[in-house]
Amino acid sequence: MNFPPWPQADEREAELLRMVLESPQWGGFHPFIEEFEHSFAAYQQSAFGISAFNGTVTLELALTILGIGPGDEVIVPAISFVSSATAVSRVGAVPVFADIQPGSFNLDPQRVREAITPNTKVVMAVHFGGAMCDVEALGQICADRGLFLLEDAAHAHGAEWAGKRAGTFGVAGSFSFQNGKVLSCGEGGMLVTSDADFAGQARSIANCGRAPGRSFYEHHRIGTNFRMSAFQAAVLLAQFERLPDQITLRTANARLLKRLLEDVGEIGWQEQPVAVTQNPYYLLIGRLSRGVSRESFCQALSLAGVPNTPFYPHALYENPAYQNAACRVMPCPVAKDRIRDAFWLPHRVLLADEPTIHRVAGAMRNAVRGQCFVGALADESLPVVEPVR
Ligand SMILES: Cc1ncc(COP(=O)(O)O)c(C=O)c1O
Repeated sequence: MNFPPWPQADEREAELLRMVLESPQWGGFHPFIEEFEHSFAAYQQSAFGISAFNGTVTLELALTILGIGPGDEVIVPAISFVSSATAVSRVGAVPVFADIQPGSFNLDPQRVREAITPNTKVVMAVHFGGAMCDVEALGQICADRGLFLLEDAAHAHGAEWAGKRAGTFGVAGSFSFQNGKVLSCGEGGMLVTSDADFAGQARSIANCGRAPGRSFYEHHRIGTNFRMSAFQAAVLLAQFERLPDQITLRTANARLLKRLLEDVGEIGWQEQPVAVTQNPYYLLIGRLSRGVSRESFCQALSLAGVPNTPFYPHALYENPAYQNAACRVMPCPVAKDRIRDAFWLPHRVLLADEPTIHRVAGAMRNAVRGQCFVGALADESLPVVEPVR
């Protein structure tokens, strides 16, 4: 099957990269950095954008500014990329793993309530795959209990809840521009916020403790160097021009694929609350039921040429890193189920043309029905079902 490659670039990236190459500033002080920070923060409806060289250090930076450290707890979902948890550990605090909702695969507000202790300082909302968490419920919990809401929006460029973009619900939102993300420069990250004090601290810490308008060699706090390079910003500016159209195409293709598979009850899709008004579809996440083996399903898709991933192999707390590191684990039966039955398609599948989406639907239908057929043959009491080809 013919899927567009990812990442993808054309003459526009080359043109902007050439401008950097031919300039005397390849580092973090090229005007492209500020231009991209302004444009992306505005796109996310935030007042400030502070770029960095990846979306892991931006989480660590945000937690540092919030004063999170030893003795503090941060509630994170049991299902996410490891940085959501290790950022907490790296600042010396304790990640508390809470379960996800069965349908949305996102942090469950009720499980968050149960995980709160006097040591809890932050709730980290990860918008998994690009589908927004229930930010209303999580925001209310944080407001009631005096906690910070921090959005790990690494998957959520352009994601919206009731017309409001990811990154605007908590104190800040952390984005990643890593190789596979829907907005990518290979490696990169950004914090967006509308809190001027938070933004000022973030910018200063990420830039060696410098202060605006002061001498280059005057350092006002113990900072570090998290600066993004001009090459990263050049690529991001070009990629950013295509993002809105790509989101529109992925949204249309996700709808089409789901419609084509409406009658295949064995496949369920990640649920989105009605308040979700935009999903960038970093991942199209589904799950299998009625005895369909996720492993056989994913293998059949791979054989048919459809890129897919059989979900994360572990809940975050099952990673070897957390066998020894300090953490607290709440009961997570839903996360454990999803580890066994869920899968995702990467976003480039949804950038394919319409005939290819029809072929993807056919491959998915076959991957399910083939198994029903084998199951039916094994059980002679059932009528024989013809496999769909
Ligand atoms: C949910 C989540 N948070 C954080 C990160 C870290 O981003 P980066 O790879 O840019 O460090 C990722 C990266 O894949 C992610 O998926």
